[in-house]
Amino acid sequence: MVENIMDLLKEQTRPQHNQTEGNEFQKSLFGGSLPKEQFVQYLGQMYLIHKALEDALSELRLSNPIVASIIEDHQYQQAYLQNDLAGAQVSIDQLPPLPATKTLTQYFELLKRDSPIALLGCEYVLFGSKHGAKLMSKQIEKYGLGEKGSPNYFDPYGDKFSGYWQDFKAKMNAAQFSKSEQEDAINGAKEMFNGLSKVFDDLMALA
Ligand code: HEM
Repeated sequence: MVENIMDLLKEQTRPQHNQTEGNEFQKSLFGGSLPKEQFVQYLGQMYLIHKALEDALSELRLSNPIVASIIEDHQYQQAYLQNDLAGAQVSIDQLPPLPATKTLTQYFELLKRDSPIALLGCEYVLFGSKHGAKLMSKQIEKYGLGEKGSPNYFDPYGDKFSGYWQDFKAKMNAAQFSKSEQEDAINGAKEMFNGLSKVFDDLMALA
């Protein structure tokens, strides 16, 4: 029986996961046919998305005890993206957001004000996406953005990921969300999957 928030998130966002995983852009990334230029554009949009979400969470950690009990610095990814982008000679100050990226980052601002627990659902999607990313990490070596084996966005934690994910799960499950907070987290996660799919569609359209 599904009973805790992490089981609920997994069960109730399964269709969105499968849809995002099956997105044309993800298929081309996972299948190894994505050109380097588009890969770098993807990293740039992911940097903007991580930065917006992580900055919002950092602000909330100061005032919201539930967010503070769950979010840890090691979950943040923007530094890895910054490294990968530096490897591609892209300056993070000159990254124009694609329309879907702008919509998603504006959505985070709204949630920060009105529904902080939904932002934890968004973080669930980005942190959880490391499961699939780890599987791709060999494939992205060919883009030659960093030192072989050095931390990168696709596999920044190596063997530590499993422990970090268990820790995130335990903290989410210990938070004892109310029914409406559970719904907020699940809706935030669904919107995050949908929003990211739209970003991937925008990236595909650049080809
Ligand atoms: C080709 C692309 C992808 C593959 C092959 C893939 C594969 C996987 C695998 C194998 C797991 C672990 C499932 C388990 O242990 O039960 C997983 C979990 C997850 N993935 Fe993906 N994934 C992909 C893309 C994505 C994307 C693009 C996102 C989000 C942007 C994402 C978000 C998640 C989340 C949130 C989980 C955690 C599920 C949970 O345990 O609650 N994945 N994925």
